[in-house]
Amino acid sequence: MSRKPIIAGNWKMNLLQDEAKALFEGIKSFTKDFTAPQLPTIVIAPVFTSLNVVHTEKCTCGCGGDKIAIAGQNCHWEKSGAYTGEVSVEMLADAGCSYVIIGHSERRQYFSETDEMINKKAKAILAGGLIPIICCGETLEQRESGITDQHIASQIRADLNGLSEEEIAKSVIAYEPIWAIGTGKTCDSKEANRVIAMIRNVVKEISSEKAGDSIRILYGGSVKPSTIEEQMSQSDIDGALVGGASLKAESFNEIIANTMKVSV
Ligand code: PGA
Repeated sequence: MSRKPIIAGNWKMNLLQDEAKALFEGIKSFTKDFTAPQLPTIVIAPVFTSLNVVHTEKCTCGCGGDKIAIAGQNCHWEKSGAYTGEVSVEMLADAGCSYVIIGHSERRQYFSETDEMINKKAKAILAGGLIPIICCGETLEQRESGITDQHIASQIRADLNGLSEEEIAKSVIAYEPIWAIGTGKTCDSKEANRVIAMIRNVVKEISSEKAGDSIRILYGGSVKPSTIEEQMSQSDIDGALVGGASLKAESFNEIIANTMKVSV
């Protein structure tokens, strides 16, 4: 079963509009030399205030912008209403997004996002025709006490609860060990692959063999140009969710180029 790799850049709360535009242009200058089938699926997630400026750059003039998909970094599950500070799926689609990152550990940790909320968000995203990138991962404490698999399986069961086989098949999961995020400490590739294969088995168990074989599961946590080849050579790792290294066109493009050496 071949799954198209995804390289997604999570820009987090970084970059003003001009900087976001310049970074997008830097990625376009790489993608313009390739056809879409030659490239992995490329996704970037800017802050909400830069969505418009980045979307405007996604023209179809042959500059490569059309080969980069845009993601929101969060959303609300309701369509509209009195939810100060929130943004709906329809609003993200209107701003050019086709993906939404949900359940990132920073949102779980600092904004008390629960699996129940993540599940509602996943349903709203899929109902709105977008694709959720659902993050999961364990703390160092959970890993050291030997409950990594149990914790992640429980996150996945709750986050995907009630989704149809078809919805699960088109979704994306990002396994991000919290201790590896922004620390420079990448999870050993074989261990990341083992956890990702475990997640795939959980998906097969709660949905179907087909859904488990189709869903794309990424690794995230200090991914760099020097780590991606080994990560992408593993059987179950379908791509990467990149934070720090996605903030410079040079390193993000190198991650894409190195991915293309081993897969696509
Ligand atoms: P990092 O972030 O690549 O800077 O570790 C990954 C993420 O939080 O998605």
